[in-house]
Amino acid sequence: MQIIRSVSEMQALAAALHAQGQIIGLVPTMGALHEGHLTLIRLAAERADAIVVSIFVNPTQFAPSEDFNKYPRELEADVARCEAAGADYVFAPPNEEIYPKGYSTYITEEHVAKPLEGVSRPTHFRGVTTVVAKLFNICRPDLAVFGQKDAQQVAVIRKMVIDLHFSVDVIVAPTLREADGLAMSSRNRYLTATQRVEALAISRALFKARDMVAAGERRADRLVAEATHILSQQRRIRVIYVALVSRTTMEPAREAITGESVLTIAVWMDDVRLIDNLVL
Ligand code: PAJ
Repeated sequence: MQIIRSVSEMQALAAALHAQGQIIGLVPTMGALHEGHLTLIRLAAERADAIVVSIFVNPTQFAPSEDFNKYPRELEADVARCEAAGADYVFAPPNEEIYPKGYSTYITEEHVAKPLEGVSRPTHFRGVTTVVAKLFNICRPDLAVFGQKDAQQVAVIRKMVIDLHFSVDVIVAPTLREADGLAMSSRNRYLTATQRVEALAISRALFKARDMVAAGERRADRLVAEATHILSQQRRIRVIYVALVSRTTMEPAREAITGESVLTIAVWMDDVRLIDNLVL
């Protein structure tokens, strides 16, 4: 497996792979890889010939108050994980390669990115769309794999791909969970043992809503109220939002539509921000 650090080298490699007729699959990540990321790599490997995993902690998607500086960085271990999962290339550029001095161009999706995460993190998706567009231009993937864990990110990227005519197939992998239900996340390592136990209320709330839908409940207000009730029983949890929305537009839904509606949750667990969702 090869590690690529420069944009020009990655672009030359992508051109060479295309010239050989290889299908390039990209898995964009910020590193600190866990089993959830690895399922994305395996899914890419099923569908593409050359698998590129990008590892870049993207400063533009963090607000000044957020955890950019303390975000875990462990490139060596990540490279080994990528190789074991079937990646062919790791693209791990230093910051100056992506945002050289004087950098001034940004991409903003202005509709799907606005609610939910967009309310409490108003500059977050601008950073995500900018870096993902750049990664598409650098790695020239035929397909790119993202996780359902970040439901709004998937919706925003799909919209950007349509609006900007990227010829990239966006593939979405289901959320991988720990055995007890907690969605895997690089930020879970910030949790103490007590916080981790309380965090289980998030998946419990989602699964309860799924059970209610299975029993015939469709009304968004009832599903949201029950999920909020479960979360509010935890001392350390502060709810940021609980919403039933369309998985493509992120607009609020009045009723759950099978396969189309997502129940989405964001909470503060003390000072750790956690998100999760379930397609109902
Ligand atoms: P990161 O948080 O590292 O996540 C990389 C990819 O892994 C994302 O597509 C995310 O949805 C997926 N992922 C995370 N946890 C998952 C889980 N438990 N199950 C399945 N997939 C999971 O998301 C980002 O990085 C960045 O915003 C990025 C797209 C790389 C742009 O900087």
